[in-house]
Amino acid sequence: MSFSYHKSPIRLWWRRQQLYRYRRISFIWFIFVFICILIVPNPFSAEYSRIAINQDIQWNSINETLQIKEQILQNEIISDNSKVVKRGIIEEQSTSRILIVLFTTIFRDKKFCSFSIERIFGKTCPSKNRCQWSCDHEKFREADALIFHAYDIPLSRAPMPNRSETKPNSVWILWSDEPPTIINYALLKSYHFNWTISYKLNSEVSIGSYGLFSRRIHPLSDNTYQDWIEKEYYNRTNGALWFVSNCHSKKRLEIFYKLKYASNLLNEGYGRCVDYYPVHLCSSFSQCEYNYMSKFKFYLSFESNTCRDYITEKFYKAFYYGVIPIVYGPNRNDYERLAPKNSFIHIDDFHDDIDKLADYMKEIHSNLTLFSMYHQWRKNYEIIIDGKALERIRMCELCQRLSNLRKDDMIYYENIENFYNDGCR
Ligand SMILES: *[C@@H]1O[C@H](CO)[C@@H](O)[C@H](O)[C@H]1NC(C)=O
Ligand SMILES: *[C@@H]1O[C@H](CO)[C@@H](O)[C@H](O)[C@H]1NC(C)=O
Ligand SMILES: *[C@@H]1O[C@H](CO)[C@@H](O)[C@H](O)[C@H]1NC(C)=O
Ligand SMILES: *[C@@H]1O[C@H](CO)[C@@H](O)[C@H](O)[C@H]1NC(C)=O
Ligand SMILES: *[C@@H]1O[C@H](CO)[C@@H](O)[C@H](O)[C@H]1NC(C)=O
Repeated sequence: MSFSYHKSPIRLWWRRQQLYRYRRISFIWFIFVFICILIVPNPFSAEYSRIAINQDIQWNSINETLQIKEQILQNEIISDNSKVVKRGIIEEQSTSRILIVLFTTIFRDKKFCSFSIERIFGKTCPSKNRCQWSCDHEKFREADALIFHAYDIPLSRAPMPNRSETKPNSVWILWSDEPPTIINYALLKSYHFNWTISYKLNSEVSIGSYGLFSRRIHPLSDNTYQDWIEKEYYNRTNGALWFVSNCHSKKRLEIFYKLKYASNLLNEGYGRCVDYYPVHLCSSFSQCEYNYMSKFKFYLSFESNTCRDYITEKFYKAFYYGVIPIVYGPNRNDYERLAPKNSFIHIDDFHDDIDKLADYMKEIHSNLTLFSMYHQWRKNYEIIIDGKALERIRMCELCQRLSNLRKDDMIYYENIENFYNDGCR
């Protein structure tokens, strides 16, 4: 009986209608929830989204940096066969325009393609009117300089040009700000690039890779500075802070835990490797990061490796937020070439004695005079971390160097892998 009841066509029809209606209702719900997600603002977004930073740099406010850089290039001793350098004597007094062709994208992005000369090289760049920029890779035959971005070379639609097809004196430039742990430079050896744009100070173009100290036009008065330093000292009641997301570097994790247990200062670390609260993962230069940073006296600017000159925004960020960086990474000397005296604390100064470092941090924490010593540089310099401003300075350095090229100058990278591996432990 019941069997035939279930098979009744009317009943089946009715069930199908129910199912259909149910599906339709759930579909409407689905659309509703989807629209809600789209239109209802995320209540935390203000905390976590990036704060716009607008800075600019005058070319002549970095004249000291330029001088240091020039000395490094002049006195460069190439002992690892990485580079071949022959300096020409005949000055070329040319005024012709220099065509720079960006052959690849920059992280899949077509960079500066439609920008004005001032936006690319900066208003204060002395040689800006001599340089032209093009993203049309088909112009490679006319180019005076060709830029290839290491990350994008394998992604490029056009194959790498042949040297014999480009101008005989064209400058082939490899742009890469990644350490050799990320990019396999061995694959790029055979191109024998002429110049590099990178974080290494013995790259032809390097200024402002991740940040820059710029001389103030008007130094801070003693009163302004004193007010500032006292406020900072008393408001920053916590010890050292660390944000970390890459857990592969074991050495720096080890130092962090030693430091944490060595001192009763609050050494707080946030990120996947040291705690489990996703809420603590502030995005870079967000309100959330600012709120944390303004409560601490120290920031652990620990690099993921010790490669020569690999000093990233972790370092410059600390200065920007008024924190003293405790650094682990390349040698002290590499930092000193970029940062003013008494601006940071280097782990190496304590010869692996983390207890001694912790004691020193405690001393600074409770002594305004000592704390102030690490901020004196602020009277004369300001810190630039705005990516756009830094890019303009770098491109100006490129244009300056291209326009000062002598007739028989010859540089090329015989072994670019050695060049990037310098100092990596
Ligand atoms: C840099 O420029 C400033 C101001 O123009 C000048 O006082 C200073 O001596 C220059 N420094 C160097 C190293 O050239
Ligand atoms: C580059 O061009 C030259 C001359 O046209 C040719 O002999 C050589 O094989 C080419 N090299 C490559 C890698 O295509
Ligand atoms: C410092 O703390 C005082 C009092 O807690 C507060 O009013 C002031 O806004 C703080 N200043 C800064 C720069 O955070
Ligand atoms: C604070 O540090 C300065 C400089 O090292 C030192 O001369 C002074 O005695 C210290 N003050 C205290 C209270 O320890
Ligand atoms: C560029 O490198 C090539 C070797 O790859 C070299 O023959 C040429 O002279 C270099 N040009 C400049 C301007 O350094």
